[in-house]
Amino acid sequence: KNLLDNASNLLTNLLSGGRLGSLPTAEGAVSDLFGRPLFFRSVIGFSRKHAAVLTRFILFKQHGSVYKLAFGPKSFVVVSDPIVARHVLRENAYSYDKGVLAEILEPIMGKGLIPADLGTWKQRRKDLIFCGWLKEVKMGGVRQDAVGIVLNLAVNVIAPGFHSLFLEAMVKVFTDCSERSISKFEKLLESENSEIEEIQFDLEAEFSNLALDIIGLGIFNYDFGSVTKESPVIKAVYGTLFEAEHRSTFYIPYWNLPFVRWIVPRQIKFHNDLKIINDCFDGLIKNAKETRHVVVYHSWKMILRYFSKEITHLSRFVHHILSLLHDDVSLLRFLVDMRGVDVDDRQLRDDLMTMFIAGHETTTAVLTWSVFLLAQVQYLRLIIVEALRLYPQPPLLIRRALKEDKLLGGYMGNEDGYAIPAGTYFYFCESPYFWDKPDEFAPERFLTPKANEGIAGWAGYDPSRSPGAMYPNEITSGFAFIPFGGGPHKCVGDQFALLESTVALALLLQKFDVQLRGSPDEVQLITGAIIHTKSGLWCKLRSRASVGAKQNQLVEV
Ligand code: HEM
Repeated sequence: KNLLDNASNLLTNLLSGGRLGSLPTAEGAVSDLFGRPLFFRSVIGFSRKHAAVLTRFILFKQHGSVYKLAFGPKSFVVVSDPIVARHVLRENAYSYDKGVLAEILEPIMGKGLIPADLGTWKQRRKDLIFCGWLKEVKMGGVRQDAVGIVLNLAVNVIAPGFHSLFLEAMVKVFTDCSERSISKFEKLLESENSEIEEIQFDLEAEFSNLALDIIGLGIFNYDFGSVTKESPVIKAVYGTLFEAEHRSTFYIPYWNLPFVRWIVPRQIKFHNDLKIINDCFDGLIKNAKETRHVVVYHSWKMILRYFSKEITHLSRFVHHILSLLHDDVSLLRFLVDMRGVDVDDRQLRDDLMTMFIAGHETTTAVLTWSVFLLAQVQYLRLIIVEALRLYPQPPLLIRRALKEDKLLGGYMGNEDGYAIPAGTYFYFCESPYFWDKPDEFAPERFLTPKANEGIAGWAGYDPSRSPGAMYPNEITSGFAFIPFGGGPHKCVGDQFALLESTVALALLLQKFDVQLRGSPDEVQLITGAIIHTKSGLWCKLRSRASVGAKQNQLVEV
C-alpha cells in the first residue's frame, strides 16, 4: 500500500501543475482509488466484494459534479458534469491537450491523431474525415472544429456517397470475419464427441483475434488471419499493445532513459516487436503507393472545382471510382488514392498505427463486456452502448488545461463558477444523476427521453436530438454520455466500432447459446488503458441448432 501511495504521489506530480483554486476537495490515498473505483461505473454483475467501485459515486454525492481529488500537495479535477464536459471537450477544446498521455503514446504512435501536436492533428484529421471511411452518421451536430467550409462541404455532400459504400464494404468485412470465428467454434463442436453439446471458450481471447483481423483489413487490407493461426506479426502486435498498456499505467517513464531500450528485456522486446510491425506496415504502404489508382489521383480540391456546379454529380462520380476499388476499401487505400500530394510515409505509418491500436483493444473490450452482461440476462439491443456506459473504454478521458479557464453552470451549484489554472488535469466520468438506477444494467434506458431535472444548461437526454444516429451519443445525451468523447477529438472510429460489435454479436448469438462457465464473481477485472478480465471470459457455447426451437426463442437480434 505504501509503495502504491508513493507511486501515486509521483503520478499526481506528473498529473498536475499544482493545487487548484476554490473547487471542493476530496482528499485521499490513491491506493484507495486507483485500479478500482474511479475506473468503474458500476458493480453490475459483480458481488459486493467489488463494492469499493461505488466510491466514485459516493465522492460525487459528497463533493458535487466537479471536485478536485487531492493527494498530498497535488491534485486533479474529476468531472461528472455534462456542461463542463462539453465546455472542455468541445467549446474550449483547443485550450486543452492530453498531457502525459500524448508523451506516453508518442514512441508508439509517432504523430498519429492521438498524440499529435495541434498542427499535425488538424491536417490529419481533415484527411481522415474527408476520406469518408470513418465518417459518422451525423445529422444533428455538424463538427464545429477548424476544418472550415470546404471540409464541411466535403463531409456533408461528398462523404455520404463514400460513406454508404464504405459502410457496405465494411459490414462485409465484419460479417466475413465474424463468420470465420463462428465456423471455428462450429468445427470444434462438431469434432467433439456427439454426446457433448457444449464447448468452452475464452471469448475475450476470441474477440481479441476477431477485432485484430477486422482492424487489419479495415485499416490496410491486411488479413492477419489470427482467428485461425499465429504469425510473428500477430505476436509482435500483441507485444506492442501489451507495452502500450504498461506504459499508459506505469508511473515513471523509465523507457525514455538513455540505453534502456538496449538493457531492459521488456524494452528490447518492445523495440524488436515494433520493428517487425513497422517493416510489415512499410511493405503495405509501399505496395499501396505502387498500386495507386491513377483515376482517382486528383486532389479533392480539383475534383470539387471541376464539379462545383453540380455537386451531386460529384458524389456519383466518387461512387463510381469507389466501386472500381471495391476489392480494397481500406483506410490506407483511400489515404493514398484520394490525396493529391504524396503523403509522407512516416506520417502514414503513424496514422495507421494509431488507428490500429485505438481500434483493436477497445472493440475487443466492448464485445467482451457485452457478452458478460448478456450471458446473465437476455438482451441484445442497446446492450453495446450500455456495456460502454458500464465499462468505458478507455476508462480515463484526460485533458490538461493549456491556459487559464473558468467553469460555469452544470450542477456545480456555484454561480460564480470555478477558476482553473493552466496545467490543471481533468478526468471525465459519468454522474450518478443522469440516469435512473445508474448502477443497473438496463439497455432500455436509452429508449426513453429524460428531462433536465434542474441542471443549469443541460438539455436532458433525447434520442430524437440526433436523427439518423443509430446509437445514443454525446449529442443525444447533451454530453452526459460520452463513450467516444466529444468535440473535435471525438473518436473517429465510433461507427466502425459500434457496427463491428453489433454484427459480431448478432452472428455469434444467432448460432450459439452463450453462458458464463462459472459465476460472475469469478470474472475479475484488471484495468489499464482498457478494462480487461483477469483471466479470460470463459463461456460455454452451445449450438442453437442442437438445443432445439425453445432455445431459438432467446435470439431477438
Ligand atoms: C479517440 C473510444 C474504437 C480511433 C477516442 C476517444 C474515445 C474513444 C473515448 C476520445 C479520446 C479523447 O478525447 O481523449 C473508443 C471506443 C471504441 C473505439 C470505446 C470501441 C468501442 C475506435 C476505432 C478506431 C478509433 C475502431 C479506428 C478505426 C480513434 C482515434 C482517436 C480516438 C484515431 C483520436 C481522435 C482525435 O484525437 O482526433 N476513441 N474508440 N477508435 N479513437 Fe476511438
